[in-house]
Order: sequence, then C-alpha cells, then structure tokens
Amino acid sequence: MEKDLAGKTAVVTGASRGLGVHMALRLARAGALVAVNYASDEAAANDTVRRIEAEGGEAFPVQAKLGGEAESMKLVAATEAEFTRRTGQGGLDILVNNIGGGDYAPITNITEELYDQEMSNNLRGAFFLTRAFYDKINDFGRVINISSVGARLTDPNIIVYTMAKSALNAFTRVMAQDLGKRGITVNSLGPGFTAGPTNDYIATDPEAAKTVTDVTALDRFGQPEEIADMVYAIASPLGRWMTAQNIEASGGFKL
Ligand SMILES: NC(=O)c1ccc[n+]([C@@H]2O[C@H](COP(=O)([O-])OP(=O)(O)OC[C@H]3O[C@@H](n4cnc5c(N)ncnc54)[C@H](OP(=O)(O)O)[C@@H]3O)[C@@H](O)[C@H]2O)c1
Repeated sequence: MEKDLAGKTAVVTGASRGLGVHMALRLARAGALVAVNYASDEAAANDTVRRIEAEGGEAFPVQAKLGGEAESMKLVAATEAEFTRRTGQGGLDILVNNIGGGDYAPITNITEELYDQEMSNNLRGAFFLTRAFYDKINDFGRVINISSVGARLTDPNIIVYTMAKSALNAFTRVMAQDLGKRGITVNSLGPGFTAGPTNDYIATDPEAAKTVTDVTALDRFGQPEEIADMVYAIASPLGRWMTAQNIEASGGFKL
C-alpha cells in the first residue's frame, strides 16, 4: 500500500467506533500519524490505536467530547503537544470531522433536547473543532467533513439530521473559500447505508435490508472500508485540486 501520507498528521473524530475506526486505520496505513478521538469509550479508542500499531502504523488516543469551544481547544492542545513530541512539529495536515448521526423522528416528535443534540453532533462539532484548528492546519492540508446522503433526502423521519448535514455541506463550501488561499481543501463526504454498528439492526434483518438495497443502484450496503478509502482518496495528493464539494459514497442511494 502506498505510503503517500508519510510525515502527515491527522485527527479523526469519533474513531473509537463505527466508520471513524476504519478512517483512522486507512490514513495510518498510508503513513499518517493519527490522533484517535473519542468521547467516552477509552477502551475502544485504545483498541483502534492497538489495531493501527499492529499494522505498523502510528496513532494515539485523545479524549474530547466535541460540540463546543472548550473541548475543541482541549483536543487541539493535546494533539499539538503529541504531534510535536513525535514529529518535531505541531501542525495538522488532515482533519476528519466524523462525529455525527441521527435518530428517526418526524417533526412532531422532535424535542428541543433531540434537536440540540443532533445539531451539536453533526454541525457544532465540526464547526468549533475546525475553528479551534484554524491557525494550526498546515498549508496544503485537508478538512474532510463527514456528511450523509441524508443531506439531500426529503424523508420526514430524519428532518433534523437532513437539516444539520445540509448546513454542514454549506459550512464546507464557505470554509473551502476561506482556507483555499493556504492551499487547504475542504470537502464533505456523504456515506449512504454502511455496514457497521449503526446499521446492524437493518442489515441483519433481511426484510429491512431489502428496503435499502432496493433503492441503492449498486444493490447492497456499503462497507466501512469503502468509506475509509474515499477519505484516503481525498486526503492523498491525488485530491489536491478538488475543494468545496459534497461527494456521496452511497452506492447510488435513491438516485
Ligand atoms: N453509518 C452509516 O451508515 C452512515 C451513513 C451516513 C452518514 N454517516 C455519518 O458518518 C459519521 C460516523 O457515523 P457512525 O455510524 O460510524 O457513528 P457511530 O458508530 O455512532 O460512532 C460514533 C463515534 O463518535 C464518537 N462520538 C460521539 N459523540 C461524540 C462527541 N460529542 N465527541 C467526540 N466523539 C464523539 C463515539 O465515541 P464514544 O464511543 O467514546 O462515545 C464514537 O467513536 C457520522 O457523521 C454519520 O452521520 C454514517
């Protein structure tokens, strides 16, 4: 596997479970030193680090419950110190804003608490962490915001998720303009239904799974490694001329 991210530093938020684990593994496999962020599950984050190290890669865990300024600043300080200790420079090359997710609820069932929680995970997390890293992202770096195919859907049952991810895509475009003068690209990557803990309850129920695959052009669930490959593709030197885009990796969901 090509080590074209050797010497690069990366942060993957929410890399103790789900898609983030595979993103961290993939970037480390390409040679990046990866900060594995988690909110509460320290053992799972350590497990991600162990898996990376077992493959000969370099990573370390960093706890921060993202969504606001203070925890974002804490993550920046911790990663800067560890990057400096390991590489001699504290700057960040690749920021993957991965935390997010949504509950199924139509507008009439959305409480203020649920609304705030979904906006926090899907939008505030990326906003405040990117802001905290603003001056620390190295020239020609990458910001990759994990969005969702849900951003373009009109399913009333994911209304807040759709709103939050659409706003995240708008954030992507504005930040691409802002950071572009430093050669930094900013893109959104929108997965569709992907195998893993979030969707196990659907993927393992043949009838429910069929409702997904029937409206997916490639007729199956995605694999987390396929989302991670897209993150790597954007982060790699091959991605240098693409910015301000929302790239869906959904196998063609509800085209
Ligand atoms: N899975 C899919 O099919 C799919 C489809 C479309 C889009 N996406 C998007 O892909 C991203 C990842 O989804 P996923 O299904 O892999 O998520 P997940 O399995 O729910 O993973 C959650 C991860 O995020 C961490 N986390 C949660 N809240 C956090 C916070 N406030 N601060 C820091 N870490 C936090 C968790 O850490 P702890 O374990 O420590 O709590 C865990 O590592 C999300 O943005 C989601 O919207 C996923």
